[in-house]
Amino acid sequence: MVRKRRRVSFCHKSLLMARSTLVTMSIPSKRAVTAVIVVAAGSGERLGYGMPKAQVPLGGETILMHALRGVVASDVARQICVAVPRGDTTLRELIADFTVDLVDGGPEVTVVDGGSSRADSVRAALAALEDGTEFVLVHDAARALTPERVFQRVADALSSGAKAVIPAMPVVDTIKTVAETDGPDASIAPEVVTGTAPREQLRAVQTPQGFELATLRRAHQAAGLFDDKQAAAVTDDAMLVELLGVPVHAVRGASQSLKITTPLDLIIAEGLLEGPLGIRWVEG
Ligand code: C5P
Repeated sequence: MVRKRRRVSFCHKSLLMARSTLVTMSIPSKRAVTAVIVVAAGSGERLGYGMPKAQVPLGGETILMHALRGVVASDVARQICVAVPRGDTTLRELIADFTVDLVDGGPEVTVVDGGSSRADSVRAALAALEDGTEFVLVHDAARALTPERVFQRVADALSSGAKAVIPAMPVVDTIKTVAETDGPDASIAPEVVTGTAPREQLRAVQTPQGFELATLRRAHQAAGLFDDKQAAAVTDDAMLVELLGVPVHAVRGASQSLKITTPLDLIIAEGLLEGPLGIRWVEG
């Protein structure tokens, strides 16, 4: 079989190889103005593999490949922009392979160097989006098994007029706030409870988070002025948009969309791929 080499743009070094399985897509994307950013530039220290998390094997592939296949299967993206660790060559080669196998009419794939924080990686990718992009979904590569329906629910909410959308799940644990103990109490326990949040109002927030591009760019521009402490407190994109006073809407996420962070998460993800649920595309 002769495969046509697709265009993959690397904002820095370019490496192309041909291999891997055919990636199928349905018709060219109906949402011609949507880009998906996949942030994959984290070190993955907590996973303990000694390599970037996106490169860690999962079900015979890398975490990143699972994540990218989910994006493509959802058919929401005209462009996929992946942020990889600065200086990485392995992930760039894997992405090039993946891109070669996309069918004609599939998304354009762009690769950028990520930054030292997740927000820096998002900002690098935002700068590389094609002109004419109206909506952007920001997805953690670490959420490798996010079902395609979740991408579609987020994209649908944007099409319906939302400027910001997050996938979210009810929490099962009771969540409390705590403070460090000091004085004599410190010998009893390290922390003391300061309050209990009402569980019915709490949600565990996932990715992909979707935004009107102009709104997310504005939010990240404002965040560029944060001091180190404020910057360290930024854990998702929606919180930056909240600071602008823009309403953030919530759609249903999926339990398979767990963020692979620890060795236990990896075991759970392997189990999801091997177990009776089979594959990622189970409805979330
Ligand atoms: O570290 P954490 O698990 O919160 O990372 C969430 C996502 O952000 C991961 O997919 C990771 O690769 C990405 N990330 C990034 N650049 C960083 C840090 C994290 O792209 N500097």
